[in-house]
Amino acid sequence: MVPLTRAPGRESDRLRFVEVPRGHPGATLAEAVRTGLGSSPKTLPSLFFYDDEGSALFDLITQLPEYTPTRCELEILQASANEIVRSVHGPCEIVEFGSGSGVKTRTLIEAALGRQGSLQYVPIDVSGDYLRASAAALLADYPELEVTALAAEYRDGLAALPPTDRPRLVTFMGSNLGNMEFCEAAQFLGDVRAAMGPHDRLLLGVDLVKDTDTVWAAYNDRAGVTERFNKNVLARVNRELGADFDLEAFGHWAPYVPGKDRIEMHLVARREAVVRVEALGETYRFEAGESVRTEISQKYTLESLQATCLVGGFGIERVWHDRQGWFAVALCRPVA
Ligand code: AVI
Repeated sequence: MVPLTRAPGRESDRLRFVEVPRGHPGATLAEAVRTGLGSSPKTLPSLFFYDDEGSALFDLITQLPEYTPTRCELEILQASANEIVRSVHGPCEIVEFGSGSGVKTRTLIEAALGRQGSLQYVPIDVSGDYLRASAAALLADYPELEVTALAAEYRDGLAALPPTDRPRLVTFMGSNLGNMEFCEAAQFLGDVRAAMGPHDRLLLGVDLVKDTDTVWAAYNDRAGVTERFNKNVLARVNRELGADFDLEAFGHWAPYVPGKDRIEMHLVARREAVVRVEALGETYRFEAGESVRTEISQKYTLESLQATCLVGGFGIERVWHDRQGWFAVALCRPVA
């Protein structure tokens, strides 16, 4: 790597783009479809929403009037990015799970550049094209920024982090933790913890338990963008695995599950359906009313967040809220 202290260079000189080979079993779309549609009840992992089409649809979701998490998190970061960055011991590097080209990422990047003059930013994202585009946008705007972009699934990206002598601020924002079951979340945090040193810090953004109608509306928007996002996973199986899903034959269903404090997203067969997935040489049958669960979106309380962090090897040092108390950004320190 070129040292960070040199004069600002051309954008292409400040970008290292790494396609990290997949190292985790069960991580391909084909394997997920074979396992998920072959089981009962049927499921598909939410990771596969995010091809280029799905990432663009998710960007639209974040701008919907009903979808509160992104705006609440942004409010927190705009008010507290300087404080957050100063909580890390000395000049730092920022690692972000999920690539951010937007205002949220920029608040932290600007706070770090303001504090230390130069910054290495390491975004990790499965969508390579999206990652490249967002890295290019950031490099064009910040001449003192260097980007090492890792096109990878989260755990593969963790294993491929570039070495640094600066403490890392590892960010997992946008309530992405909520898309994991509690045990998976704790396991993931444990993996992150294992890659971190004592001076590194983890910044977690999570959507909080709040009134049910507000949460429900965020996943059942009037414009139907979330429905398109949900169905894109079937469109993707059609595109990439030669399947013949009729998207009209499936409906979007996103109930709030009060006992579990979470939204579940499903695709429900409107009538009996038989779907051929050419690349797998398999045919799947759907009864009328049968659902494929495509996502969970867990809403946290501070207690459930603390407990999950603790199991994952982190203690919460500090928490910031938006004015409505709908979202929390937590700074976490690795514990022994
Ligand atoms: C990315 N993730 C935190 C979003 C969420 O709210 O669970 C994904 C999403 N699904 C439907 N709308 C947004």
